[in-house]
Amino acid sequence: MGDIHVKNLNVIFGKRKKEALRLLNQGESKASILEKTGCTVGVYDANLEIKQGEIFVVMGLSGSGKSTLLRCFNRLIDPTSGSIVLDDKDIVQCNEAELREIRRKKMTMVFQHFGLLPHRTVSSNVGFGLEIQGIDYETRRKKAYETIETVGLKGYEEQMTGQLSGGMQQRVGLARALATDPEVLLMDEAFSALDPLIRNNMQDELILLQEKVNKTILFITHDLDEALKLGDRIAIMKDGKIVQIDTPENILTNPADDYVKAFVENVDRGEIITAGSIMFENPASIRIDHDGPKVALRKMRKVGVTSLPVVDNKNNFLGFVKDEEMAYMEENNLDKISEYMHSKEEVRAVNPDTPVADLLPLFLDNIYNIAVIDNDKKLIGVVVHSSVIGEMIGTNREKVVQLKEEGGLAL
Ligand SMILES: Nc1ncnc2c1ncn2[C@@H]1O[C@H](COP(=O)(O)OP(=O)(O)OP(=O)(O)O)[C@@H](O)[C@H]1O
Ligand SMILES: [Mg+2]
Repeated sequence: MGDIHVKNLNVIFGKRKKEALRLLNQGESKASILEKTGCTVGVYDANLEIKQGEIFVVMGLSGSGKSTLLRCFNRLIDPTSGSIVLDDKDIVQCNEAELREIRRKKMTMVFQHFGLLPHRTVSSNVGFGLEIQGIDYETRRKKAYETIETVGLKGYEEQMTGQLSGGMQQRVGLARALATDPEVLLMDEAFSALDPLIRNNMQDELILLQEKVNKTILFITHDLDEALKLGDRIAIMKDGKIVQIDTPENILTNPADDYVKAFVENVDRGEIITAGSIMFENPASIRIDHDGPKVALRKMRKVGVTSLPVVDNKNNFLGFVKDEEMAYMEENNLDKISEYMHSKEEVRAVNPDTPVADLLPLFLDNIYNIAVIDNDKKLIGVVVHSSVIGEMIGTNREKVVQLKEEGGLAL
């Protein structure tokens, strides 16, 4: 319930749609199609799946087709071809009566400028969708009060909506959309009219709210930070086409083309890139029950590092050893590595989801690389100093590896 499949969706505005579609399929650009046929390409060959519980963000420049795509979902715009399937029903094929049912019960929209009735109370606005469905006063009032509490407006139920601040009005808008218990929420630039602080709060609250309500959310925005923060996945549109659909992290690390790259260049990478994406996987390690200082030194020289992680025979992370201490052990015929190991109480281990920004401070008082461990404390990777700095300043990983190979970065 609540999954949406969009297949081969096209929206062409203008009279000569067939011809425009034919030219499109031959690879002609949006601009040349407009010139030759007078038709505007709204959306071209959109294919995507949105899963229930997911916040799916669409972003792109003005005119790239974001709103057109969203408006096809509730058929404010009729697609030229293609399908949008929600719970085994193709919305594109629905008749008027079916559409009305879908709009009332399954899919609601939250508007940028709230779209509320200012002279009605908050509870009356929130209960509006239920009123339209013919639900009795007591029932809808009860539901309205519950939903108002969910969006954090308890106490404001009987206030006039027009007297509330913008942020509060958008909460009312959200509550109104949720009151009919729809499967799908459509949000077109829903937070764009709010000032930055309030907008930030609303984003945080939408994330919390989504944990409770678990809807299918299609969220449109111009704003990359908003997209990265809210999106479980992000689709980037250009000239009506979806050029990339990916997780926020992949959008940043592997932009599909220069257009996407241009979008992501000015982001605070440290908050988005995680330890898991910059670690060296399956790193060389020392087995505590098996390896002595000689082996440790040889491995370090081979990999070109000055410290290595130590694990037990089940690959549980125990700590790090350093080259100078291993050399000292070797000289003095000592062989119990555990005596010269810096245990995990002294050194750092993080999980793969840790943002890079949180790793930097760990390096300040820690001369070792950082171990990346999974929930069972098994060693899965090592993050080296230089990769973290590389990510923070935007140098790509190949460059860091290259520098390392050339001996230009001390590990
Ligand atoms: N009703 C319409 N008739 C003709 N052309 C339209 C119509 N609606 C949208 N378009 C065109 O379709 C293209 C996509 O417009 P759309 O509004 O979907 O862009 P958008 O990405 O939502 O932009 P914005 O960020 O400015 O809201 C644009 O070229 C626009 O001019
Ligand atoms: Mg728009």
